[in-house]
Amino acid sequence: MSIELKKLTAHDGRDAYDFLQTLPKDENGFINSAAGMTFEEFRHWCARCAESAEKTEIEDGWKVPQTTYWLYAEGKPVGMGKMRHALTDSLRVAGGHIGYAIAPDARNRGYGKLLLKGMLREARQKGIDRVLVTIHNDNVASIRVALGCGGVIEQITEERHLIWLDTSVD
Ligand SMILES: CC(C)(COP(=O)(O)OP(=O)(O)OC[C@H]1O[C@@H](n2cnc3c(N)ncnc32)[C@H](O)[C@@H]1OP(=O)(O)O)[C@@H](O)C(=O)NCCC(=O)NCCS
Repeated sequence: MSIELKKLTAHDGRDAYDFLQTLPKDENGFINSAAGMTFEEFRHWCARCAESAEKTEIEDGWKVPQTTYWLYAEGKPVGMGKMRHALTDSLRVAGGHIGYAIAPDARNRGYGKLLLKGMLREARQKGIDRVLVTIHNDNVASIRVALGCGGVIEQITEERHLIWLDTSVD
């Protein structure tokens, strides 16, 4: 199986665009802000995402720099991951560091776990030792992905599982 984690660039093209149009706009709190965009709008969106990945400071107290990734399987994008470089108080309750989604027609083949594992390696390279994922209590698939990557449930609130992952675990 050929699997590759690629960082989003300002020049990503049709394959990433087409993939994003298969993901819902909001599924279990994972927001696909490119859903329904034209290709032209998507190009601008890519440029903004690439810019965010280069930032080093939290702006206005809440705009946290974020790197976006694609998971490619057999040369085709099947997953998207977003990694915030830091947490705010509000992200500690909802949002966390990392969010991920797999194309509906590619689920349950192990890609979710491969995507999160790849992002943990990337987080480690950025100097982040532990990452938080916050998952709706009824999102069994995502909870299994996080636990399958070595996550530890630190708290279960009324709405979410707060799961921490050590980025040195491979
Ligand atoms: C959550 C999501 C990324 C999982 O991706 P995936 O590629 O299907 O996950 P995997 O194939 O790696 O499966 C991981 C585990 O979840 C289990 N699983 C997958 N889909 C499941 C489902 N619908 N119900 C219960 N378990 C499920 C798998 O059997 C596997 O279990 P295992 O650890 O015992 O082997 C995907 O369902 C998705 O994109 N959901 C919508 C967006 C979302 O919820 N993102 C997370 C926000 S926190």
